[in-house]
This record gives sequence, structure tokens and C-alpha cells, in this order.
Amino acid sequence: MSSLLVDNIGELVTNVPGTGEGGPLGIRRRAALLVEEGEVVWVGPAADAPAADRRIDADGAAVLPGFVDSHAHLVFAGDRAAEFAARMAGQPYTGGGIRTTVGATRAASDEELRATVRRLRVEALRQGTTTIEIKSGYGLTVADEARSLRIAAEVSEETTFLGAHVVPAEYADRPDDYVSLVCGPMLAAAAPHARWIDVFCERGAFDADHARAILACGQAVGLGVRVHANQLGPGPGVRLGVELGAASVDHCTHLTDADIDALASTVVDAPSGPQTSTVATLLPGAEFSTRSPYPDARRLLDAGVTVALATDCNPGSSYTSSMPFCVALAVREMRMTPAEAVWAATAGGARALRRTDIGVLRPGARADLVILDAPSHLHLAYRPGVPLIRQVLQNGVPR
Ligand code: NIG
Ligand code: FE
Repeated sequence: MSSLLVDNIGELVTNVPGTGEGGPLGIRRRAALLVEEGEVVWVGPAADAPAADRRIDADGAAVLPGFVDSHAHLVFAGDRAAEFAARMAGQPYTGGGIRTTVGATRAASDEELRATVRRLRVEALRQGTTTIEIKSGYGLTVADEARSLRIAAEVSEETTFLGAHVVPAEYADRPDDYVSLVCGPMLAAAAPHARWIDVFCERGAFDADHARAILACGQAVGLGVRVHANQLGPGPGVRLGVELGAASVDHCTHLTDADIDALASTVVDAPSGPQTSTVATLLPGAEFSTRSPYPDARRLLDAGVTVALATDCNPGSSYTSSMPFCVALAVREMRMTPAEAVWAATAGGARALRRTDIGVLRPGARADLVILDAPSHLHLAYRPGVPLIRQVLQNGVPR
């Protein structure tokens, strides 16, 4: 069994509160961390570091858990750069472009889709993302949703069936029939390759009744629930997610007090302090790329709601795979402190995926971590757009 010591860490963000300074970030100074068989087995002062077969010298830099990107749509073909340019010239975002990507995705070969997924997975990894959730949702036929998930599952264990992304054009005048298809043969073909089910609950996509029916079918076959909710306007998505015990409701751009109260009511005691069992996952890349008002993270945090940050990487509303970019936006535009944003991009993402083995650096956790080209986690927001990821370890393996 070979061991690896990450030594000479200037600032180690553990996300284990009470073991250091920085509140929830559990920051240790002048620390070291020992990895064996893909797991963290020891964390402590660099002065007490045990011997190891191999050693990485962090040279006084900051080390944090790898980013957990809990919301991404990587299985697609084509791009929508022209739609982006039109938006920047004043056109609004409506979600209607999803159907353009559906056409391109259906026409693509497995190899083309696989190449895109792998390219984006590597792109995200280089920016410090060690776990990424991947949704289907640009196939919208039984065969295309199943192959999207099969390809996604080749690179991630966190896969989500989003057959209810929009009603495809061929079902435009019979949405009830499409809901039956999603709940029946499409779910049956998708479920073996998926851990989660998601619905775009929004005007122009699926209303509360359709969304509830689809999510309940997924739950009945053992999938966990997540919801695209309250992105383009106020609506029932967040409260539906809470009603169904969703792990996460995502976007949360337009929230009423009742939505926030519903999320806050899911509070549970966790070893790291009170958390909400339904997480609000905020996706600032989407507001950036659609030139929309940002969600107000402060309002959620002050109400005790657990917040995660994710990229929403997709060719329409947010074509970024960069969690550092999302951290910087959250700090600058959403009233999060740098510490809250870094926590939300690591531990928050883990909670949104109901995972306890990632987003944290303590004995027993997966050895997923990033070494920054910076002395502190603060630099992620302080130095926006700068490539600060010096090295990534995934499962203890330098990548
Ligand atoms: O999360 N909102 C729905 N789905 C994606 C956008 C997809 C697209 O525009 O292609 C999102 O923003
Ligand atoms: Fe999305």
C-alpha cells in the first residue's frame, strides 16, 4: 500500500468546523495531509507529518477540498454562441434554445457526444472540480435519453435523468402524452444509468402537476429528487422540491418569502451544525450568461438555508465549467463572503448530492483536493479569472 504526503500546506481548508479557525471552513495553518488508497488517513501539523512513500510539497500554498459541481448538462452537441451574442445585444433568455440543442444532440453520434463529455470533464478537472453531476435532457426520446445517461455514467457516478427538460416539438400539442412517455418507457430505460431525477419546473416547460407526477415516478424507482426551480420567474418549483424531499432545488433566482420559509423548514441537525435537507443550489453562471439579476444568497443564508454553488455548464444559459468563476461571481454579485462561497462550492455541493465522503478533508474522506497557486482561499474571489489551480488530486491520484 503506497502512501502520499501533501506537506508544507500554508492554509488547509478542511470544512471540518471546530478543528481550526474560519468557522465552517475549519482552517488549519502549516498543515500536512496523508493519503492512502485514495483516502485521507491523517491530517495534522506539518511539524508532526508521518513518513510516506511519496511527498508533494505545497510550498506554503492553500489546499482545499476539490470542487463539487452538483449541476451540469455536459451531454450535448453543437453550441449556441449566436444565441449568446443576440442576448448580449438585448434579446431575452427564454429557454427556447433548448430545442436547438435537442436537434443537434439527436443528430450526433455516440462518439461525438462522448468526446464532448470527456473534453468538458477534463476542462472542469483542470479548474479543480473533482466531482461533477451530469444531466441528460437534450435527447428527449427513449433512446437518446438512455444513451446520454450511459455516456455520462462513463465519467461520473452522479448522473441525473432530465427527460422533463422541455416538451419536445413533436409533442408540443400533447404534453400529457409526453409526461406519460417520460414516466413510462423513458424512465425505465434511463433509471439503470441514473442516480437522480430532475424536472425543469417553469412556465414554458413543466407545470407543478406534471413536475410532481414525473418526480414521483422517479422516486418510486429509487431515484433521488432535484428540481430546476424559480429560474425565470416566481413559481411552484421550490415548494414542490421541499414537498418531495428533494436533495436540492436549483437556480432559486426568484424567491418569495414563502419559498425561503419552506426551505428553512427542512432544517436538520448534522455533525457540522444545522443544515437544510433541501439545499438551494445557486448557478451564477446562468445569470451572467443571460444577463439576468443574480439570486440573493444572503437572504437564504440569513434564513438558515444551506447554499451550494454550481456551474450549470450547458451550451445555452451558462457555458462555463469553472467553479472558481462561480465563486468569484457569488462573492461579487450575490452577497456571499469568500468563505461562504468556497464552502458552498465544496461542502455545499456535497450536501446537494447527499454525499459525506467528499467536500471535506478529514480521515476517511476521499482524497479529492486542490492545491492553489495562492496562499489563501480568499484569492479565488480576489483574483477572478486567474488560473489559480496548481494541482488536483482525485481519489488520491495527481491529475
Ligand atoms: O439550467 N433551465 C433549464 N435548463 C438549463 C438551460 C438549458 C439551455 O438553455 O440549453 C439551465 O439553465
Ligand atoms: Fe440546469
